[in-house]
Amino acid sequence: MGFSKAIITSGPTREWIDPVRYISNASSGKMGFHIAEEIGRWIPEVIYIHGQVLEDYRCPSGSKRISVETTSEMKDAVLSEMMGDTILIMAAAPADFRPAESKESKIKKEDGSEILLLELVKNPDILKAVSSEISEREISGCCLVGFAAETDFLEEHALGKLKSKNLDYIVGNYVGKNEKGFGEVETSIVIYSSRGKVAEIGPLSKEAISKKIVEFLKTDTSNAFVRS
Ligand code: CTP
Repeated sequence: MGFSKAIITSGPTREWIDPVRYISNASSGKMGFHIAEEIGRWIPEVIYIHGQVLEDYRCPSGSKRISVETTSEMKDAVLSEMMGDTILIMAAAPADFRPAESKESKIKKEDGSEILLLELVKNPDILKAVSSEISEREISGCCLVGFAAETDFLEEHALGKLKSKNLDYIVGNYVGKNEKGFGEVETSIVIYSSRGKVAEIGPLSKEAISKKIVEFLKTDTSNAFVRS
């Protein structure tokens, strides 16, 4: 089947604690950027929705770019772009929690107190919101692809997310426990499909892995793909 639109999300979101501090994570946006560049060869319209990615990963060629800050903003941007025959690839690392209250003034150290308690509330899960929206509104021909970066039990966690988020594919990869960040060099991934297919790719650079992910999705969805 043919998709008319691809939405690629990329990078971390930011949740502000006060005007100078935020909660975020170490995602660079590299994987999402390379997927967006590559997928343009296959799908005519590409929307790149990104958080605070590194400068090099801001403008994939041939994509319409939407810059967002928070997880809620990313969810709204994705939902407003979702339509029939769209493939959504959520390579972003949205912050799962935000401060219950974002202070208008900078939080000051209080003399005598060694502890600052920060109350966090859960953010919406974008993939879950999209999968319920497309089934409620009966939007057809969509394909949802998630990522699962794990330090342990990759298969178990990836398959759990494939099911709980009602996805068509999940791309699992190990992130080293002893490294900080999401890994900038060579990496290996495993793609699991909701139909039970498993494909292992790598170790390769993120750029080469992105190409292989797009090739895999193109081939695997080419035969009368219907969301299961
Ligand atoms: N994701 C999402 N909305 C969120 C958080 C994550 O749609 N609020 C997406 C990510 O873009 C990714 C997939 O869900 O494609 C899995 O993200 P991950 O952070 O690995 O999983 P979580 O569901 O946040 O679970 P946990 O952090 O407990 O591993």
